[in-house]
Amino acid sequence: MSSLQMRFEDIYNLEYEREYFSPGRINLIGEHIDYSGGLVLPCAITLGTSVLLSEREDSKLVFYSDNMQDVGVIEIDLNDLEYNKDHNWTNYPKGVFALLKEQGHKFDKGLNLLYYGTIPYASGLSSSASILMATAVIANDVYELNIDRLDLVKLTKDVENNYIGVNTGIMDQFSIGFGKEEAAILLNTDTLDYEYIPLDLKDNSIVIMNTNKKRGLADSAYNDRRQTCDQAFDILKEEYDIEYLCDLSLDQLEAKKDLLSEGKLYDRAYHAVSENERTKLAAEVLKAGNIEEFGMLMNESHYSLRDKYEVTGLELDTLQTAALSIDGCLGARVTGAGFGGCAIAIVNNAKIDEFIEAVGTDYLDKIGYAADFYVASVGPGTARVK
Ligand code: GLA
Repeated sequence: MSSLQMRFEDIYNLEYEREYFSPGRINLIGEHIDYSGGLVLPCAITLGTSVLLSEREDSKLVFYSDNMQDVGVIEIDLNDLEYNKDHNWTNYPKGVFALLKEQGHKFDKGLNLLYYGTIPYASGLSSSASILMATAVIANDVYELNIDRLDLVKLTKDVENNYIGVNTGIMDQFSIGFGKEEAAILLNTDTLDYEYIPLDLKDNSIVIMNTNKKRGLADSAYNDRRQTCDQAFDILKEEYDIEYLCDLSLDQLEAKKDLLSEGKLYDRAYHAVSENERTKLAAEVLKAGNIEEFGMLMNESHYSLRDKYEVTGLELDTLQTAALSIDGCLGARVTGAGFGGCAIAIVNNAKIDEFIEAVGTDYLDKIGYAADFYVASVGPGTARVK
């Protein structure tokens, strides 16, 4: 029996009936443009959330997280699914049930649930979307709701936006719902058309570098960045026939620069439009097996997020600069929302140990606490595993 199965029996005095796994994600390129109709290139990783469950006869959802043992068991009634801050992390899974109920779905029995995540907390690798998708897939299976995958993805985004209150785009939920082993997902966040691109990095691997600077999406500048982009879009849609900011070319944007002179409007829009073009190019060079060029585009993406979008900060910039100074590193950038969290680097397999040692030492010297490193494995999307 695995330690998680034993844990389930300890907590619930019952045997578990099913187990699910839901990944986290990294984004290779295409950052902060999934709310501006841009292209993104994320992949699901093998760090993620395991959930064990058994069915109950009553109407209670009983939650326990092995990552938050001090919070203990939290019981929720399926007839009362209002957000409640005393319910701590369980508001995430609860929100999934709340929105499903709003859609008219019925739950005739409760569940005992045990969650355990290997995604470091607040690291920007999407632990919240991982928990949300796990819960949505579980509810869909157990109560036989027959909702298709894309609608589950949209539902979890809705939970994040309207139940939790963070105005994210759809990238995290989509990549976790649609992840595939050894593939990146080129997703058009306007049409939701997508394409799997085989992730063949030749002699290289992706190293995830965690700043260990905690980031809270809700109280961060995330919503502010999004609002600025929406504002730029509102101005530019009077000038061009566009549905999203990322429908523009750089030339079109530059031609209207004068209209965006207030505050940071132009810089933010410049990032969005240029990042979209970069992502298009990055997908092409990745398909062509040109990893060097892919690495250069990752660097450019980081510089744009640092200088134009201003979401990196000292910790991420320190990791990125240190990474690039190491022979065998082809490119490095922040991944996810920024403001702390993680960066990623493409590193030659023979140099990984040396890379981690050198970047880790430099970071500790400059920042005063340690970074963590993980070699990423790209895995499948949310699924039942037992
Ligand atoms: C967070 C959000 C995503 C996306 C990224 C930045 O992860 O949840 O929707 O906006 O930030 O690319």
